[in-house]
Amino acid sequence: MAQEDTKITVRHTAAEAFVVALLEASGVSRKNAEIVARGLVQADLRGVESHGVNRIPSYLARVRNGVLDPKTEPTLTQVTPVVAQVDGNNGFGFPAAHLAMETAVSMAQTFGIGMVSVKHSNHFGMSAWLVRQAVDAGMMSLVFTNSSPALPVWGGKSQLMGVSPIACGAPGGENSIPFILDMAPSVAARGKIYKALRRGEKIPPDWALDEEGKPTDDPEKALKGVMLPMGGPKGSALAIMMDVFSGVLSGSAFAGGVTGPYNMAKPGDVGHFIVAIKPDLFMSLDDFRQRMDVLYQRVVESDKMEGVERIYFPGELEQLTEERRLQDGIPFVQGEIDALNVEAERLGVPGIQQAP
Ligand SMILES: NC(=O)c1ccc[n+]([C@@H]2O[C@H](COP(=O)([O-])OP(=O)(O)OC[C@H]3O[C@@H](n4cnc5c(N)ncnc54)[C@H](O)[C@@H]3O)[C@@H](O)[C@H]2O)c1
Repeated sequence: MAQEDTKITVRHTAAEAFVVALLEASGVSRKNAEIVARGLVQADLRGVESHGVNRIPSYLARVRNGVLDPKTEPTLTQVTPVVAQVDGNNGFGFPAAHLAMETAVSMAQTFGIGMVSVKHSNHFGMSAWLVRQAVDAGMMSLVFTNSSPALPVWGGKSQLMGVSPIACGAPGGENSIPFILDMAPSVAARGKIYKALRRGEKIPPDWALDEEGKPTDDPEKALKGVMLPMGGPKGSALAIMMDVFSGVLSGSAFAGGVTGPYNMAKPGDVGHFIVAIKPDLFMSLDDFRQRMDVLYQRVVESDKMEGVERIYFPGELEQLTEERRLQDGIPFVQGEIDALNVEAERLGVPGIQQAP
């Protein structure tokens, strides 16, 4: 964990209000601005700063460059009683994915399962906020997306697949936290390299290769090279899986065709795949929750390997960070605050409010 006390802190409510103001000034509806703001700030709260409020300058640059439509609304088509399709209409990815999960949850409440495919969308940030949307509605979920080329396929040397996160979750019981897995199929998420670049930090040498195919600790060189898949061919296969379910199936871009959030040349055309599942399909909800309690206890109380002080459930580290940051605020470095305030000045809204 970074030394948070050396940084500037911002309350999550102030961060959300700031993002809403920037987006509304850019033509986004209040409702959609709030969905984007909640998704971004939740990433900052959970310690996933690579996908938090700092993404706003690049998102607004997309609006200014005319490659993302701030005013559009996602449209919904019901395909079967348990299947729907959302067209993001090249608006922000957050409202499109939010509508997809809302629809999936509603179908699952009636029929036990709901599946929604999303096309012509954009980057939706940290997948875990969608898993949380499902957990908050008492649902299990799968949240898949594809993304722009960053990763070679196993045996290849140039970027083809996205560092596309795989996320899923389930509500916990009385004595356990929800299960929230949200992981990129690379050794590290690409956003973490952008974060290191912003902060003038080095990256571990096993994250990426430079243009010549050599390991590098320089984030700038890494961004010109390729990310390394986790677990060799297995990480590469998971990235292809994200493209099959989110790209091929949806009708969105695929096979290296998605445009990255920092590439202002054309619309993202990102695809997502969202499923909500009712957890009490095969037993009572009480039984399910008790079984989650058993699983949680067995995991976190498992015998520890040497040097390990505590074992965490997937999503637990992020939940602990969130609990702390809800109290203490979100830490930023001055350069990040400055970059956000440049956007505020440009749009004529007040700068981000720092905690006293
Ligand atoms: N929208 C996009 O296109 C896109 C692309 C890439 C990444 N992302 C986002 O980037 C984020 C970062 O991904 P990442 O792969 O670097 O995450 P990560 O490696 O920090 O965590 C991956 C998972 O492992 C779990 N975990 C981590 N350390 C643990 C520990 N010590 N014990 C138990 N569980 C642990 C976490 O809870 C999480 O579920 C994700 O939120 C992802 O959605 C988004």
